Amino acid sequence: MEERNYEWLDEISPEDLTESFDQIGGYQEIKSILKTYVNLLGKIDELKKWNVKVMGKILLHGPPGTGKTTLVRALARETRKRLIILNTTTIMSKYISETGKNLEKSFSMIKSQPNSIFFIDEFDSIAKTRESIGDHDEMKRIVNTLLTSFDKINLVDHRILTIAATNFEIVLDDAIWRRFDEILYFNLPNAEQRGQIMKVLIRNIPSDNIQINPHSLNLINATENWSGADLQRLITRAVIDLLNNDLKKISEESLLTIIEEKKITPTSMRTYKPFHSMQKESLEKGKRYKSKFTELFE
Ligand SMILES: Nc1ncnc2c1ncn2[C@@H]1O[C@H](COP(=O)(O)OP(=O)(O)OP(=O)(O)O)[C@@H](O)[C@H]1O
Ligand SMILES: [Mg+2]
Repeated sequence: MEERNYEWLDEISPEDLTESFDQIGGYQEIKSILKTYVNLLGKIDELKKWNVKVMGKILLHGPPGTGKTTLVRALARETRKRLIILNTTTIMSKYISETGKNLEKSFSMIKSQPNSIFFIDEFDSIAKTRESIGDHDEMKRIVNTLLTSFDKINLVDHRILTIAATNFEIVLDDAIWRRFDEILYFNLPNAEQRGQIMKVLIRNIPSDNIQINPHSLNLINATENWSGADLQRLITRAVIDLLNNDLKKISEESLLTIIEEKKITPTSMRTYKPFHSMQKESLEKGKRYKSKFTELFE
């Protein structure tokens, strides 16, 4: 019998996950769309009878640190589905000459795990445009294998929901985009969402140790273009300062000082800005291919 424990695949049961939806502030609509698709895993008979073809493939894209990975883990835990993660870095780096074959093996292994969520994180590393690869024949073969393997699994026939995530969508092969039912963009949080995220991030800090209004205009304005991960680093830094300096409370002033003194740099600005104009282009692409399946089973 063929060995099924591939080192580039992680199988996690929901009990072993700790992430939850309420730990991610904002993104309500995305959360609800994702849940809708998981629900479809329980409505396969209807889909078959009505001959409705749902591919069951969702692409999450957007700047680093906006909660894409965390949200998928939370989705699996909250809907009590097994999460199978394809580790694209491992499958690429260790076995470049065997990557295509290993990808095929992974996709056929998935078929034997119905009622699961198949998560391909850092999707760009295996789904690059064939043009951007140039003459790299090996890589071209990998992308072609990915495309054919991708077509061989779907929600209706295999009871698998496939979710791919990337923060570098500009390199994704054109042929990949139309293979998704939904393309969901994680924008950097707006003012209201930054307030919601801040509220989530401080909820476990005892009220004796913190006194801030998460929706304070000063804080909201000072964190424009920050991602959820950046806000998390701000709070972490404030807690470290509090514990190290025997301070009594984290206040609005202490957070503003950390920002003003640039004790942390928002990574989203640093790594994502150069791609901003290209970003628009891929957003347009995303809209074009967005489908209406989510409206079917609400
Ligand atoms: N909206 C949010 N609310 C609360 N925490 C957040 C939010 N967005 C991100 N975070 C926190 O930031 C950290 C990084 O998030 P995560 O790894 O899920 O981002 P990502 O979008 O997958 O990033 P990348 O594109 O770099 O892989 C996590 O600890 C997560 O909890
Ligand atoms: Mg991620």
